[in-house]
Amino acid sequence: MPGIDPDKVPHHVAIIMDGNGRWAKARGLPRTAGHHAGVERVREAVRTAREAGIANLTLFAFSSENWNRPKEEVQDLMGLLRFFIRRDLAELHKQNVRVRVIGCRETIQSDIRPLLIEAEERTVANTGLVLAIAFNYGARDELTRAMRAIAVGVAEGRIDPATITEADIDCHLDTAAMPDPDLVIRTSGEQRLSNFLLWQSAYSEFVFMPCYWPDFDRAAFHEALAEYGRRNRRFGALAAPGLAVGQ
Ligand code: FPP
Repeated sequence: MPGIDPDKVPHHVAIIMDGNGRWAKARGLPRTAGHHAGVERVREAVRTAREAGIANLTLFAFSSENWNRPKEEVQDLMGLLRFFIRRDLAELHKQNVRVRVIGCRETIQSDIRPLLIEAEERTVANTGLVLAIAFNYGARDELTRAMRAIAVGVAEGRIDPATITEADIDCHLDTAAMPDPDLVIRTSGEQRLSNFLLWQSAYSEFVFMPCYWPDFDRAAFHEALAEYGRRNRRFGALAAPGLAVGQ
C-alpha cells in the first residue's frame, strides 16, 4: 500500500463510524440519508482493509444506547443491516471475508437474528479479513454478560475464582479469539470511546478523524493508518526495543 510500511499495518482496526446525521444535515437531507451514504463507506472500508493487509476490522454499527433514537431511525438502521447482509454476504464470502457479529443478540428483532447466524455460519471457514460488525453492542453490557457467564461457572463449580486470569475474561467476551484492536478510529471529530471495546482497547492507539463517516474514503483510511504508523507504542514500558508499532 503506497506510503504505509508493511511492518506498521495494524492487525486489528476498530472504527466508530460517527457523523452520519451531521453529514446529512449539512446537505439539508434527512438523517437516514447519512446512514445510507454510510453503508457505501462500509464497503469501501472493507476493500481498503483487505488491500492494506489488515487481518481484523470491527465496525460499530449500532450501539446498545442507539435504541434511544426516534423509532423510525432505529427501524432504518435495522433495515440497513438486513439489506447489507442480504446484498453483500455473497460478495464478502467470495472475498474470503469471515463475518462475525458482536453485541447482544437477545434484544434485536427476531427476523434479523437468523440473518446474523447465516452470515457467521456461511463464512466461518474463511481465512481472509475478519469483519466484526458491532450491532446492539455496548462494552459494559458485553462485560456484564461475560461476568454473568463466569459467575455461572463458579456457581456450578467449573471455575475456581482464585485462578481466573485476564485470558479467561477475554474468552468470555464477544470478541473471543480476536486480537485487541491496535488502532481505534473515530470519525466526525468527536473524541470519545462511547462504550466501545472498553476492555479490548486498553493499549490501543486512537486516531480521531475530522471528517463525517460518509466522507471517510480510502484516502482518509490511509491517512489514519499513516498516523498510526508514526506512533510509538510502549504498552506501559519506558521503551519497546524491537517492538515495532503493529505488534
Ligand atoms: C453514527 O452517526 C452512526 C451510526 C449510529 C450508525 C452507523 C451505521 C452505518 C454506517 C450503516 C449501517 C452499517 C452496516 C454495517 C450495514 P450519527 O447518526 O450518530 O451521526 P451524528 O452524530 O452526526 O448525529
